[in-house]
Amino acid sequence: MKIAIVGATGEVGRMMLTCLDEFNVPMTTIDLYASERSAGTVLYLGDRALTVQKLEEDSLSRSYDYVLFSAGAGVALHYAPIAAQNSRLVIDNSSAFRKEKDIPLVVPEINGNLIDHYHGIIANPNCATIQMVLPLSILDHLYALQKIVVSTYQSVSGSGHKGIETLLAQRNGRQDLGVYPELIDLNVIPQIGAFLDNGYSQEEDKLIFESQKILNLPDLKVCPTTVRVPVLYGHSESIYAEFDKTVNLEEAAKALKNAESIVYEEHTYMTPRGLNSSNDSFVCRLRYGVDNHSLCFWNVANNVRLGAATNAVKILIRHARSEGLL
Ligand SMILES: NC(=O)c1ccc[n+]([C@@H]2O[C@H](COP(=O)([O-])OP(=O)(O)OC[C@H]3O[C@@H](n4cnc5c(N)ncnc54)[C@H](OP(=O)(O)O)[C@@H]3O)[C@@H](O)[C@H]2O)c1
Repeated sequence: MKIAIVGATGEVGRMMLTCLDEFNVPMTTIDLYASERSAGTVLYLGDRALTVQKLEEDSLSRSYDYVLFSAGAGVALHYAPIAAQNSRLVIDNSSAFRKEKDIPLVVPEINGNLIDHYHGIIANPNCATIQMVLPLSILDHLYALQKIVVSTYQSVSGSGHKGIETLLAQRNGRQDLGVYPELIDLNVIPQIGAFLDNGYSQEEDKLIFESQKILNLPDLKVCPTTVRVPVLYGHSESIYAEFDKTVNLEEAAKALKNAESIVYEEHTYMTPRGLNSSNDSFVCRLRYGVDNHSLCFWNVANNVRLGAATNAVKILIRHARSEGLL
């Protein structure tokens, strides 16, 4: 298959290359694009050296099977429609197209049916959304999900490579705020993205409309508080969920244990440092909420893998199977 990655030098772009390799995606062509700043950088796919090229409109007039974008909303808005005209499928990691009614927002384990034979642009959801909706979709099928109250503890890699540089510089004694509104070292910041008129932040807004769209529950009530914490990789979430039907704790645990891409931890719990290179969403400390119509749990996943690159590569693989390429 002919594949291109736009934003290949970023946190997500580099992980996309790793995931393509780990999932054994066959590639006759793999072209890597970034801005002028990193043109000429060499990245490796196994022992194959690949030189990053500067992204230009002409770059995407070439015909690829798959173009994976992870270069932010501005780049996607300009270049993804060009790529979509010339290539089989575009998968975009930014927020640019997620709210568009006609653009699928996909977690393959939940609404993967939207991928098969689709042509155009598919939006990859936000990292904090993917890890949360995976277990909630299982619980929704059992008990009819009505309401979510979630607080997040999101790592600095969620802000891209500059987030990591900011935390490491502050740990080394620099007092520059970097990409954050307050110092992040030895601190937590209850703001991710700008605040909207309703008091919620942009990241919180994403958790609301993306959950409703992916789970196909337009009336789902979602109350998020998103918080940046001084962790390098891995987002954690404290989730409270309410259901229409009566919950059976043992049955819920069994369903989560058997679900794809979920690791259910019964007697222990996951932390961001424990994740290593896992591609799964960890569900721990499952318990009843305020009554037997509600549940609480602790949820952890690697934001750059499951929350971005792994989900994008899974979309690619499912689409390639539907097109007979795999
Ligand atoms: N990090 C996460 O956990 C995560 C999760 C889900 C979604 N996302 C989304 O994925 C996207 C990338 O995030 P990231 O964390 O990988 O960010 P990042 O580390 O800052 O990387 C950004 C990438 O975009 C490239 N880029 C920037 N401006 C460009 C331009 N004008 N033309 C071509 N390439 C350009 C950069 O290239 P240079 O090296 O040349 O600057 C770099 O490769 C964002 O939309 C983000 O919201 C991130």
